Amino acid sequence: MHEHHDMPGYGCGILTVSDKGSRGERQDTSGPALREILAGAGFTVQAYEVVADREEAIAAVLVRWVDELGIDLVVTTGGTGVSPTDVTPEATRPLLHRELPGMAEAMRQASLAKTPNAMLSRGLAGIRAESLIINLPGSERAARENIAVVLPALGHALYKLKGGARDCGAG
Ligand code: MTE
Repeated sequence: MHEHHDMPGYGCGILTVSDKGSRGERQDTSGPALREILAGAGFTVQAYEVVADREEAIAAVLVRWVDELGIDLVVTTGGTGVSPTDVTPEATRPLLHRELPGMAEAMRQASLAKTPNAMLSRGLAGIRAESLIINLPGSERAARENIAVVLPALGHALYKLKGGARDCGAG
């Protein structure tokens, strides 16, 4: 059993990255699914937006949410793949002060058991200031499957990255 941390007061933001979604040509179902899952895990959902697949647009939201609003956990969904328009990792990487490759690797590894296309996601995870930023793939199914992989470690990650001193083994 992984240890359990309450998430008292931890806030999250959900950013859907989709050209079609941003133009209103496609209903975003991944964002609302993530909202429900994270709220169910005890997070307060502080922000939700849909932006186009543009590096500057994505980066502007991430910086605003972390640097201005101080949102603890920011998850993006979409734009992690290999199509020419997929730029979410490029927008995210320069903003990370420390990468957390294990989280991204864990998501890809678990996802590979479901579909070989999991290896096509280039999503990153990392820390900016005292916030965690995680790129998830775009389809609702992929978003659900990937957030489920990291969810059990989010409470401990946030506790530790904010300087919490409790031992890792202590519940
Ligand atoms: N991971 C899981 N768990 N389940 C999925 O269905 N879809 C994959 C992959 N990761 C998928 C997944 C597919 S089809 C692609 S193209 C990549 O994520 C990148 O998705 P994105 O470009 O929408 O971010």
